Amino acid sequence: MTETTHVPTITLNDGQEIPQLGFGVFQIPPEETAEATGRALEVGYRHIDTAEMYENEQGVGDAVRDSSLDRGEVWITSKLSNRKHEPEEIRAAFAETLEKLGSAYVDLFLIHWPLPARPGSDFVKRWKVLEEFKADGRARSIGVSNFQVEHLERLAAECDVAPAVNQIEIHPYFLNEEVRSYGERHGIATEAWSPIAQGGVLNDPVITAIAERLERTAAQVVLRWHVQRGSIVFPKSATPERIRENFELFDFELSGADMDAITGLDRGEAGRTGPNPLRFTGPSD
Ligand SMILES: NC(=O)c1ccc[n+]([C@@H]2O[C@H](COP(=O)([O-])OP(=O)(O)OC[C@H]3O[C@@H](n4cnc5c(N)ncnc54)[C@H](OP(=O)(O)O)[C@@H]3O)[C@@H](O)[C@H]2O)c1
Repeated sequence: MTETTHVPTITLNDGQEIPQLGFGVFQIPPEETAEATGRALEVGYRHIDTAEMYENEQGVGDAVRDSSLDRGEVWITSKLSNRKHEPEEIRAAFAETLEKLGSAYVDLFLIHWPLPARPGSDFVKRWKVLEEFKADGRARSIGVSNFQVEHLERLAAECDVAPAVNQIEIHPYFLNEEVRSYGERHGIATEAWSPIAQGGVLNDPVITAIAERLERTAAQVVLRWHVQRGSIVFPKSATPERIRENFELFDFELSGADMDAITGLDRGEAGRTGPNPLRFTGPSD
């Protein structure tokens, strides 16, 4: 498949259109990020998911600038560091994000974690600073990550702008359904992080049997399952063949029975691989 492959877009609650498939750069070392991102852009990805805490925003910005693409052709998401809590430090950190990206704006800026158990941190106060970035146009959309239903309800009650997305852990072993369905009911698009559980679901016999029958890879089957459920995904890979493989999702379809079989793999809370957002307090400094 080539650059002309059609990646569907999802219309967010603020009218912006985000490509449903992107490229995640978590754990790509800063010095390798420009090359990996450049490769993804060549394959056809037009959506990159980075974060202040990944320390590789600069590499993402360099790759976009060094490509033949206009800035407006690539969707870039970044996220507020868990180390920034006060309005002044959030404003300074966001200015640094734009500088590293080499761009006057970011398409989507997220609060990375709600940190409800962290003394002195208040996600409502942090969100109100993101509302400023949305108002001045430097963040075209704003959203959250790892927010639970009670956090989303607090934002709805106390803030002016609703989050456009909630980026949460979802894969076949952890559906995170309560949070996902709350988003669906309230117009908050769901982004699924660790969509293949960092490789942890790829040897599951249910998934490998479907992959063999359809002559696809296990990763393609799982990513296609996410796409058909309406989630936004951005698998990470530093491996050229996998970057291409993960992009080839739009010339096949899973039947309802195959979708149900994968959904049936959910292990509930036991399937979670990352921290529980209700307890996670972020870095100690
Ligand atoms: N908001 C949050 O708190 C949060 C948390 C985690 C992740 N994220 C975002 O979500 C993105 C994706 O999640 P993730 O990076 O945790 O995990 P992931 O995309 O589920 O998995 C990445 C891992 O799977 C391997 N892999 C990728 N494609 C493969 C394929 N086709 N076949 C076999 N193995 C494959 C990669 O190896 P190689 O690189 O060696 O190929 C890497 O080890 C991140 O990059 C980040 O943008 C956000």
